[in-house]
Amino acid sequence: MVSRAENERLTQSGRGTPMGELLRRYWQPVALAEELPAGGAPVPVQAMGEDLVLFRDDKGQIGLLGLHCSHRGADLSYGRLEDEGLRCIYHGWLYDVRGRCLEQPGEPSGSTFNERIRHGAYPCQERGGLILAYMGPGEAPLLPDYEFLSAPADHRTVTKVFHECNFQQSSEGNIDQAHVSFLHRVARDGGDMNYLVEDTSPSLDPEETDYGLRIYSVRRVEGDKQFVKISNFVMPNFAAVPGGGRGDGYQVNWHVPIDDTHHWKFVYTYRRNTPIGPPSPHGTRAEVDSQYHLIRNKGNRYLQDRDEMKSKSFVGLAVGFNAQDACATEGAGPIQDRTDEHIAYTDRVISASRALLFRAMRDVEEGRDPQHVIRDPAANGPPEILVRTDVILGDVPWREHWRQSAPLRLPDN
Ligand code: FES
Ligand SMILES: [Fe+2]
Repeated sequence: MVSRAENERLTQSGRGTPMGELLRRYWQPVALAEELPAGGAPVPVQAMGEDLVLFRDDKGQIGLLGLHCSHRGADLSYGRLEDEGLRCIYHGWLYDVRGRCLEQPGEPSGSTFNERIRHGAYPCQERGGLILAYMGPGEAPLLPDYEFLSAPADHRTVTKVFHECNFQQSSEGNIDQAHVSFLHRVARDGGDMNYLVEDTSPSLDPEETDYGLRIYSVRRVEGDKQFVKISNFVMPNFAAVPGGGRGDGYQVNWHVPIDDTHHWKFVYTYRRNTPIGPPSPHGTRAEVDSQYHLIRNKGNRYLQDRDEMKSKSFVGLAVGFNAQDACATEGAGPIQDRTDEHIAYTDRVISASRALLFRAMRDVEEGRDPQHVIRDPAANGPPEILVRTDVILGDVPWREHWRQSAPLRLPDN
């Protein structure tokens, strides 16, 4: 449980709010690259409550500008892509990707008024199928050298999923290792599911790292063995977890507020040593429509099938994890009232993540860079984001085993 004021600190993402300012200290995904093909139309984007337009100019440079024209507010997503910028359809003002107003063709000749216009603009970069923006003040930090963002295209897939709730509910859900024994339980032979069902009350052990938390969840299985799953909370709003099929790699779920009651979950699947192969019929892409909205959603009660609950699945929503997660996280309301929750042992990783977020918000308020903001290129090696599952003997210390051995098992969801 947190106080009302603390709940607001955790959940509000607008400019000037503590969490909004924290999120803006990091590069954040604002769109999929596939939404902005070369020569494609400008795309209206809402991020952290700000109305923006994303476009590629005729040289291919990416711009993210305030949606409303600095002249009299017309919607720039209807604008014309020409002359190395985006031209407003109302009176023809022309903006470049940095927000400079290059032309005001209706003004008297010789006017220099355009030079005094500074339209809102954020730097962007395209990496690994994502378009990321820095929406904070001052010099942008480095984008951490995440290995999943520099993987070859056939070793990764990325898409996104619309959610009708505050981003923090999904972010906390992804580091909640207890729920997988229940919400995601489906009848299936073999794989990790057997262990998740065999021991439904794991030991949970968050270990602080430079990027956030390394999360150990440990279940007693096969009599005297331990099933150890390692996943991660990466500051301030993503998780790296097992998932997306077999192989040496992991899934990233990156939760970016649209506004305080909606968010995009950018879902990244990455395989280190092998091409990723064709999409799974049960994968994330199969769960969303062409607008990246869940086919099973709040409006249709996620198509819950109560007959299915008798034998095939715990929640009656077939096998897709995204609809299962959405049902649980959206069910807590547009913004979960955390003054009314009862934090239990199973939530100790969530409590640890909140402690990091509160500390980081204080750092920003007091003028310091928060955790995992990197500015020194020499300090920007790939963060040691480790995702693996192992079955180890009962007396092996789980914080140590991975440091001494190659994975004994491959991640499998
Ligand atoms: S409102 Fe855009 S040019 Fe006038
Ligand atoms: Fe989940």
